[in-house]
Amino acid sequence: MKILARLVSLPNLIILAVILTLLICFNVIKQTIIEPDGYEYINLTKLDRNIIIIKDKSTLTKETWQYVTDDQESKFLVFSAYLDDRKTDKFVRVIAVGRTRNPTPVWCKLYYKADDQNTYGTKTIQGNHMVISENWGLKYTARYVLCPIDTTKILPDAVSILTNPDKEPMNILTVIVNSKTPVDWDVFNLPKKIDSIAVCVKPLHNEYNKEIEIMEFIELHRLLGVNHFYFYNHTLGSQVDCLLRNYISEGVITVLDWQLPIISQKEIRTEGIFAALNDCLYRTMWHHSHVLFIDLDEYIMPEQVDTYKELLEHLNTKPKAQTTGSFSVRNAFFYRQWPDDEDIGNLNDEPAMKSITLRKTRRKTELNPHRIRSKYIARPEMITMVGNHFIWQYLDRKLGPMNVDPEVALMHHYRVCEFGGDDCVEQSSIVDRRVYTYKDRLLSEIRSKYYKLRDKCQLLEY
Ligand SMILES: *[C@@H]1O[C@H](CO)[C@@H](O)[C@H](O)[C@H]1NC(C)=O
Ligand SMILES: *[C@@H]1O[C@H](CO)[C@@H](O)[C@H](O)[C@H]1NC(C)=O
Repeated sequence: MKILARLVSLPNLIILAVILTLLICFNVIKQTIIEPDGYEYINLTKLDRNIIIIKDKSTLTKETWQYVTDDQESKFLVFSAYLDDRKTDKFVRVIAVGRTRNPTPVWCKLYYKADDQNTYGTKTIQGNHMVISENWGLKYTARYVLCPIDTTKILPDAVSILTNPDKEPMNILTVIVNSKTPVDWDVFNLPKKIDSIAVCVKPLHNEYNKEIEIMEFIELHRLLGVNHFYFYNHTLGSQVDCLLRNYISEGVITVLDWQLPIISQKEIRTEGIFAALNDCLYRTMWHHSHVLFIDLDEYIMPEQVDTYKELLEHLNTKPKAQTTGSFSVRNAFFYRQWPDDEDIGNLNDEPAMKSITLRKTRRKTELNPHRIRSKYIARPEMITMVGNHFIWQYLDRKLGPMNVDPEVALMHHYRVCEFGGDDCVEQSSIVDRRVYTYKDRLLSEIRSKYYKLRDKCQLLEY
């Protein structure tokens, strides 16, 4: 009785009340900023029709999915906008998703900075839709909205996409200017220099939380010579979220918000994968000379040299190199059902023993042909539209892919049987220990990352 009396004593009650108030406040604050379904809106309604004043420029720099109309059922959303001045017809190119058939006509409201840095002049023009070819016939698709511009005048700083030019916009996107396009820029005469290599990965979803898989992916690719990684965050588990934050602080990766409110697979292909891949094409353009568009279970392996730089230097000596916009690498399955490499048991070290590339060394003898499950290394400036396995559109018809000989590079793909079941392991196979070239360095990187972050990120104990 006494204990109970002490528990409900006045000081304790006050503490309880404070905690409750804090909890409630926190929730309330969250709800006023973020709409119930989790999407933030930027409303420009109160602003003058022709001159707008952007008080908080930070709202302009962070990309996130924004609705085009207040009819959210339309599922017409925009994510990012890029200046594309590579050809005579110049555009602001907007990454969007929307209905696959009969898209609504669109307008682009372009914002131009006036002399006084806070005032913007605007101009509204008609835009065009361009469907991204790979959409699997689903109801919604990734698309471009193209806003034609005249680059001889000043460049727009931001753009809003509208379906009715008389209505006020619900979205605003910074126009990202990556281009260092010199006046005499010539796509057929690009420098062959291998400046910087990037990797783009389709949206991480389903509370993605495979901690060793993502560490191995990043660390092995760094050993291969990748300089930067781009990830899209649909949903992450808390361990991977923490690991990624660490890589962000080291400047190794960029993670973009990807709260796309369209049902994956049913309404749009894999979390809007083609919007992400094409965003990544324009995001990396002019920053990275070569870009790989791959999944977390895929590794393009140079077979004769140790790094991508040496691989690309070799490929650049081929006659077609100057018009090559992508290097296609054939797919080889390393089925996960095959037993582990016999060497792995000697590694008395648990996190390292999870390494998929060291465990799975048996691969199917027969390779898939180019374009079927193949992956590529792209030269972004030469391309206008990427797909998952090949390039859909080059900047010019005279540009194209180079089919890389499997003796020179092979795409190692670590997965279960692609048609379900376990029968795939009956097919003829060979042991391929190519990754063992990197074994000691890879294990040392995984170990040091794992032990450094194990407590901070509450990684699984092995
Ligand atoms: C944005 O503007 C619309 C009217 O166009 C209004 O209905 C809505 O409540 C506004 N939203 C916010 C968050 O201010
Ligand atoms: C991923 O997205 C979620 C939901 O928007 C967010 O809470 C989290 O901070 C993001 N994580 C990273 C690493 O960007």
